[in-house]
Amino acid sequence: MRPTAIDALLQETRVFPPSEEFKKQANVNDPKIYEEAAQDYLAFWARCAEMLDWFEKWHTVLEWNPPYAKWFIGGKLNACYNCVDRHVKTWRRNKAALIWEGEPGGERVLTYSDLHREVQKFANVLKSLGVRKGDRVCIYMPLIPEVVIAMLACARIGAPHSVVFGGFSAEALADRINDAQAKVLITADGGYRRGSIVPLKRNADEALKNAPSIEKVVVYQRLGTDYNAPMTPGRDLWWHELMANAPLVCEPEPMDSEDLLYLLYTSGSTGKPKGIMHTTGGYMTGVTVTTKWVFDLKDEDVYWCTADVGWVTGHSYIVYGPLANGATCVIYEGAPDYPDRDRFWAIVEKYRVNILYTAPTAIRAFMKWGEQYPKKHDLSSLRLLGTVGEPINPEAWMWYHEHIGGGRCPIVDTWWQTETGAIMITPLPGIVATKPGSATRPFPGIFPEILDDAGNPVGIDRGGYLVITKPWPAMTRGLWGDPERFKQTYWSKYEGIYFTGDGARRDSDGYFWLLGRVDDVINVSGHRLSTMEVESALVDHPAVAEAAVIGVHHEIKGQGIAAFVIIKEGYTANESLKDALKQHVVQKIGAIARPDQIFFTADLPKTRSGKIMRRLLRDIAEGRALGDTTTLADPAVVQALKEKYEGQEE
Ligand code: PRX
Repeated sequence: MRPTAIDALLQETRVFPPSEEFKKQANVNDPKIYEEAAQDYLAFWARCAEMLDWFEKWHTVLEWNPPYAKWFIGGKLNACYNCVDRHVKTWRRNKAALIWEGEPGGERVLTYSDLHREVQKFANVLKSLGVRKGDRVCIYMPLIPEVVIAMLACARIGAPHSVVFGGFSAEALADRINDAQAKVLITADGGYRRGSIVPLKRNADEALKNAPSIEKVVVYQRLGTDYNAPMTPGRDLWWHELMANAPLVCEPEPMDSEDLLYLLYTSGSTGKPKGIMHTTGGYMTGVTVTTKWVFDLKDEDVYWCTADVGWVTGHSYIVYGPLANGATCVIYEGAPDYPDRDRFWAIVEKYRVNILYTAPTAIRAFMKWGEQYPKKHDLSSLRLLGTVGEPINPEAWMWYHEHIGGGRCPIVDTWWQTETGAIMITPLPGIVATKPGSATRPFPGIFPEILDDAGNPVGIDRGGYLVITKPWPAMTRGLWGDPERFKQTYWSKYEGIYFTGDGARRDSDGYFWLLGRVDDVINVSGHRLSTMEVESALVDHPAVAEAAVIGVHHEIKGQGIAAFVIIKEGYTANESLKDALKQHVVQKIGAIARPDQIFFTADLPKTRSGKIMRRLLRDIAEGRALGDTTTLADPAVVQALKEKYEGQEE
């Protein structure tokens, strides 16, 4: 984050304590919870684990051999059982579990009994296709109830799922399938996004040309018969045909606490995505307690997390956390501005949503579109708001507070990561007074610290590296097939301490202020991308000799992507080449990675050892004075680039 933004954050003095009324009814409202968890965090997490139903109780809470943790050892449980079966045995049987709305219209409500039936049937379908405990299943679907059914069915039979966001390209899908060696792919003929069709099955077919581990493809018919998705006989099977004959009962597989629940790929600082592993007992404990306490979730609430299930937010806070709590969850398939910019508010009004969890990038877009859109709707049902994915600027926080929350709803700014599994730094809304732009305090039982390069705590109001000093139940158990990279990325900077890759400061009240990534990861609209991933996509184009990609400040997206590109001889640097390069990145990775700006250059600033100095490129792109250039091999390069850049705004 730019220094000016950091200064602005530190000058933020507004404080919003919870109202007496909110406090009184909150699921947790006694600040002692923090002390209790700090005094004996193992006992604290063991109490949290009691929120789940276990087939067999654990005998040991934690075994910690850094970087590997085992939680609730000896315990047996099933995530799907906790999300579905245990509710069906109670009055929640006929409670709405999912309220779905499609982008072009159409709505469906599935009760917990409906979910129970569909999940068991689909679990039997998977078994009939030869899926056994431990086999990986890849899911590439739009946001429809069937994606939740598919995930839960995998969890039921102990087959780890790997959900790939529907916006990813065929190539990105193939990479993920191959890394996981998935046996079955579950997809749909397509989905809807901003009025257009997303041709998921066609992308999947493209991917499958290079993904030989897939034996069977299950295709849900979302678009209908007119669309005519191509089907390969013997390999591709229709969801509805398989389900028509599927037996109704499938017992949940008793899983060991440490059995793999899922893989989820995320970007790191190299080009290759990492398969983050989450296991069953610890992960389910983390997401269940955080959902209940952070969102102050009550049985009568309607809860809406606007993420896609393709990201960890969807895994933890659309599927596993809320359903383990027996919540009623809204899911919406499409874009916030389709058919108009009030779509979210129309949904809040229509289903009387009480809890809304969204991203700062969305809030900034709403802010830009104007308050007339939320004003058209009755938002009085809302009682709590959340944000996640990137730092929220105080202006956006205030706008959310006033125009969406009507000044009465607490805002929980939740910091966490794919790797952390569950929310780590957040207000507990019945206890902690909030400050716009701060994620406030660690969740009880979580121990973050801010360190300098030498590993010393930095002290109040000083920036440093955010780390977590003790293990926690929902932490990732590693990277699929790459233990070395796991150690290298998270555990090598400091001995036995988890390195988050984020910068942070803590103020004199002990509040954390997140300052963005300190590595080569960029955060575009709350989505993680690695600069190297985008660079590899660019150099894959025949015209490109070399490319350097950086994240630059972007008013709506938080960060945008700027690329400095050296082209090969024989190619002409012009607008149409820029467009072709942008399109190439979209085809290689997906639309989220489309560069905002491309700058042609004859040279890149490098150190004498040949490393590109991205810091200087960022200075150039954001119009700052150049930082230290003494380590450059040729300082003239950066000066020339700066002059050229200043005359070349896109
Ligand atoms: O930089 C932090 C940012 O998002 C990164 C994690 O990205 P991902 O694994 O895709 O998970 C996103 C959803 C949990 C973090 O390293 N981040 C996430 N939440 C916040 C945040 N930065 C500041 N404030 C947040 N509340």
